[in-house]
Amino acid sequence: MPQDNLKLLYSRQQIAVEVQRLAAEISRDYQGREVLMVAVLKGSFLFFADLVRALEIPSMVDFVRLASYGSETRSSGIVELRKDLELPIKDRDVVIVEDIVDSGLTLETLYHMLERRQPRSLKICTLIDKRSRREVEIEPDYVGISMDDGFIIGYGLDFDERYRNLPDIYLVEGA
Ligand code: IMP
Ligand code: MG
Repeated sequence: MPQDNLKLLYSRQQIAVEVQRLAAEISRDYQGREVLMVAVLKGSFLFFADLVRALEIPSMVDFVRLASYGSETRSSGIVELRKDLELPIKDRDVVIVEDIVDSGLTLETLYHMLERRQPRSLKICTLIDKRSRREVEIEPDYVGISMDDGFIIGYGLDFDERYRNLPDIYLVEGA
């Protein structure tokens, strides 16, 4: 197996602080309501698990799986829905939970797809926001960590399906 050059970028402690902050913000904004948290698989699975456990409001969870074609480190903008939601979202308060917003193409497609089902509200929460790489106008409402360029792995994020299980986030040097 080839060895990638990894450099620690965000420790599990740093990540936990941001996840707790996001959960507190969401709990405050949706006080007295029930949120439907939607994980975008697979990348967000660890973030999602930590985030929903830290919420202090009633919630439901559901999952979508998207596949975006392109190279390993760049998305093409052609997005396929591999697994749809199982719960109806009409008149519900929905929060999409993403791992990374990069070009924004994946999220833009999903956002419009879900918007057509007439949720009461639809917001976006992302662990990582790569703002400088945005190609479409899509603004996450809740952002864990903002970063510029660089390909990262760990805490759910993969490089060719590897490293998702690592508890910390690393930069893949030379990727
Ligand atoms: P976008 O459509 O360009 O915004 O791509 C977003 C998706 O690409 C994310 O949900 C990730 O799954 C993946 N992605 C983007 N950047 C990275 C990265 O640095 N590491 C791992 N996956 C990434
Ligand atoms: Mg991915």
